[in-house]
Amino acid sequence: MKIVGKTCTIRPLELWDAPRLAELKRENPEIFEFANHVFPKNVSDEENWIKTSISNTTMFWGIESDGKLIGITGLSGIFWVYRSAEFLIAIYDKNYQRKGIGLEVTYNILRYAFEYLNLHRVYARVNENNVSMIKILEKLQFIKEAKLRQFYRLSGKYYDALQYSIISNEYWRLKQNIYDILFDKV
Ligand SMILES: CC(C)(COP(=O)(O)OP(=O)(O)OC[C@H]1O[C@@H](n2cnc3c(N)ncnc32)[C@H](O)[C@@H]1OP(=O)(O)O)[C@@H](O)C(=O)NCCC(=O)NCCS
Repeated sequence: MKIVGKTCTIRPLELWDAPRLAELKRENPEIFEFANHVFPKNVSDEENWIKTSISNTTMFWGIESDGKLIGITGLSGIFWVYRSAEFLIAIYDKNYQRKGIGLEVTYNILRYAFEYLNLHRVYARVNENNVSMIKILEKLQFIKEAKLRQFYRLSGKYYDALQYSIISNEYWRLKQNIYDILFDKV
């Protein structure tokens, strides 16, 4: 699977991405604020993780822009009986944040989830203070369905998580207006 978008390409991770992944996390520690990476990882940890990045229940891909890996995205907790999964994204390279990449990637993963995997429901959990991710989810018409109390812990302080979801029929409605939503941005 490879999705070539206007701002970036989503592609499978390769073992040779491991040094770049480790470097991105080392160079951009502020990313830990909203991405749940608790344990530091060296290159061989990243290699091991990449080997398990595609399974029956998990699919992670790299996000590439200007020929460089800048982050990862994916679906986890895929439950084929209910046809549901959790959406995840992290743009580690801060030079590539705020350029519309998060919005485009989120839409393209939804497209893959609903049109190719034939899922019924995709959900995302986000820190209540993660303004950009909340904007993306709301632009793509995810519905806020729950508040998970004191779900995240950062620097000794707890934060609520907001859980959003989108159902397949809502996705197909969204798709009718997606050009206005994306082209306003991309
Ligand atoms: C959250 C994340 C995916 C957003 O991706 P992005 O490419 O930076 O976001 P976009 O450029 O698509 O912007 C989305 C919206 O958020 C706004 N935005 C972006 N960064 C912002 C910031 N720091 N503060 C306020 N608004 C911000 C943008 O202006 C845009 O709003 P608009 O369409 O009204 O102009 C990215 O910042 C990231 O990976 N962060 C770290 C990990 C993370 O938080 N993952 C999500 C966990 S659920």
